[in-house]
Order: sequence, then C-alpha cells, then structure tokens
Amino acid sequence: MTSPFRFSELARSMQPSPIRELFPVIRQPGMISFAGGLPDPAAFPVAAFAECAEVLERDGREVLQYGASEGYPPLLEALLAMMSERLGFEVPPERLLVTSGSQQAVNLAARVLLDPGDVVVVEAPTYPGTIHCLRNAGARFATVPCDANGMVVEGLPEVVRRAEQATGRRAKLIYTVPDFSNPTGATMSLERRRRLVELAGELGVPILEDDPYGRLRYAGEPLPTLARLSGGAPHVIYASSFSKVLAPGVRVAWTVASPELVRAMVLMRQGEDLCTSTVTQALVAEYCRRGHLEGHMGTILSVYAVKCRAMQRSLERHLPAGAATWTEPSGGFFFWLELARGSSREVFDRAAARGVAFVPGGAFYPGPDEQVGEVLGGDRHARLCFTFADEAAIDEGCRRLGLVLEGP
Ligand SMILES: Cc1ncc(COP(=O)(O)O)c(C=O)c1O
Repeated sequence: MTSPFRFSELARSMQPSPIRELFPVIRQPGMISFAGGLPDPAAFPVAAFAECAEVLERDGREVLQYGASEGYPPLLEALLAMMSERLGFEVPPERLLVTSGSQQAVNLAARVLLDPGDVVVVEAPTYPGTIHCLRNAGARFATVPCDANGMVVEGLPEVVRRAEQATGRRAKLIYTVPDFSNPTGATMSLERRRRLVELAGELGVPILEDDPYGRLRYAGEPLPTLARLSGGAPHVIYASSFSKVLAPGVRVAWTVASPELVRAMVLMRQGEDLCTSTVTQALVAEYCRRGHLEGHMGTILSVYAVKCRAMQRSLERHLPAGAATWTEPSGGFFFWLELARGSSREVFDRAAARGVAFVPGGAFYPGPDEQVGEVLGGDRHARLCFTFADEAAIDEGCRRLGLVLEGP
C-alpha cells in the first residue's frame, strides 16, 4: 500500500540518535552497559518525591491546570535564588525560562537564532542531542578540537574566520559544555573560560553554555561558569537541568538568557509544548521548598565519586598495558578512552558480543559533510558512563572490555 504521507524534506533527511540506535544491543540480557548517560536509579529520591506529591492535594487546582510558558511561579522563585548564587549576579525574572529538559532549551535557542545554512561553532567531540537539534535547524558545524582542558579556545578566531570564508556567513552561536563535558569528561580551564567570554564578545558570536553536570564535582575546586565570568552579559546564554542531579524523568530544566531571547524562546515554545508539565514543575519546586535538594546533592556526590574511582581502578587493573589512554574525570558522568588500535565501532561489536557496551566516539561528531573548515572525527574513542552501573558491574564490565582489547 502506498503511504498517504508526503514527508517534509527535514523528516526525510533525519537520522536516528546514534546512542538510541544502540538500545537493542544494550538491552540484551546480561549486558553491562556503560553506554547511556544515565543517573543511578538507586539514588533517585523516590520516597521524598512521593511525599512531595502532597502538593497535588494542597495546590491541585493550580498544578493540574495549564501553566505559564515561562514556568511555574514557585519553581521560578527557587531557580532565581539558585541561579543568583551560581551565576554571581541578581537574575531578574524576565531572564529565566523553565524548559522541558535542557534538550528543549538548545532546540528553542537553535530555532529562534538559526536559519538553514547558518554556522554554529561546536566543540568536537560534543553532545549528540545538540548535534541532532542543530542539524534539524539546518545548521552547518564549525568544529573546534578539545583537549584535557576543554575546547581549544585559542583556535576559535581562526575557526570562525575560515567558516565565514567558506560560507559567507558569520557563525551565529558557540555551543560548549565547559564543566565535565559529554563525552570527554574534561573541564575547561579558567584561563580558557576567560578568553572564550572575551573572544565571543569581540567576534560578536553568542555562547550557549550547557551546564547539566557543573555541580557534580568529585575532586578539585569549582570553576566559575562562563555566565558568571561575563557578569551576566547578554552574549552568554546559560542552560542547566534537574536531569543529572535529580531525575531525568521529570523533564525540568531552565535557561538564563537576555530578556529578548527568553521572549523569543517563549513564543517559539507556544507553538510546541505551550509549557513544561506543571505537575512535574510543582513536584520539583516542592522538593526544593522542603530543602531536600542540598542533602540529595551530598548523597549523589559521594555515590558518584566512589563509582568514578572504581572505574578508574578497574580500567587500570583490567585493560592491557598500552591498549588505551584516558584522563580520570574530576566530575560528571563519563570516561573518554582513546584506543591504541582498531576502530571503536569495530571494538564495540566485539565488546557487545562479550557483554559490555559503550558508545563509539563517532557518535559525538557532526557528519563530515555537515562540517565546514577542518573536519574532525572520533573513530578511535569510546565513551564510558560510570554513574549507572554498580561497582561490581563496573569491575566486571572493565574486565570484559580488557579481554576484548587483548586481541581479536
Ligand atoms: C551536555 C548535555 N546537554 C543536555 C542534555 C539533555 O538533558 P535534559 O535531560 O535536561 O534534556 C544532556 C543529556 O545527556 C547532556 O549531556
């Protein structure tokens, strides 16, 4: 039967998420998965959340109603206080927007800023969900390499210049995850942060600072966000989320941006989801109001610090000498391994056959034909998430990976 649908050009060109594509393999019985960037479900504050559901009895008539596109007022209030502390300036209400996950924040920013063919500067490697929504907005990618200190900011002016030469367009946005990057786990140095904020101002290209992992630091001193370093300048857009620190199922995140950008994002979302679920916003607001968040942060920081150390020890113990190199992350969710031999896609297939899964590095780069300027790719790398598996599974998974890396 012929299809009744004539799909849009965009729908016809869409590619599946490279990580979600791995799900059938990851879900096989007995598989130890380091693939998904998932929080530890054992650490979810289930009982406290269940108690917070009392908010439905107390405020049900409001909570079950449509809410404002900007966000649910008690949650906005909690976020304003949290953000003024994290960003170091008084955040006014017109600069704050609650979104359905920070994935939506990136998507809304892309949709209000980009026309098809526009250039976005991304770190390479970077978060595939961002690649996906920038691609949907018709972006072309100018890639800046990363090292152990995050984006190699020194190369940024040249990347912007070359992309402009190739496309005739000045880049519209710089996307970065300065703290505990997905996938590399690296943190941008203070010097580079300062330089990035300065350069973005000079080049006239706004920065989208995506910060879902910033508070998940297990070692070393916290570094200021780009938004803080900019003193609240309009060219830094800041996005964060409750997904990694609380629970991704609530789909509650937020953005701090200039009022004109927030307004544009609000109008855009009115054609999408109208507002983030008022029910989950109310649950999160109640959770914060009861003062649970700080205690929970303490719990997950110690749980994840132990798991991070465990993965470091197990990789050292089980991987054959010289088979891979990596830097132990000081926070976040991920180890980023550089394999000495073989493509990570091919190693993935052999690892899956032995019952351990990771994400091959290629998933974290835009396609070669989507990049302008120098083309970067990641076939030698593997991303391993350490937060989901328990300590025994971390050790066994690393043991299996070690066997795979010993030889074909
Ligand atoms: C860097 C980064 N940004 C955004 C997201 C999406 O988070 P959310 O659940 O808030 O949509 C993720 C999730 O893995 C991420 O790693």
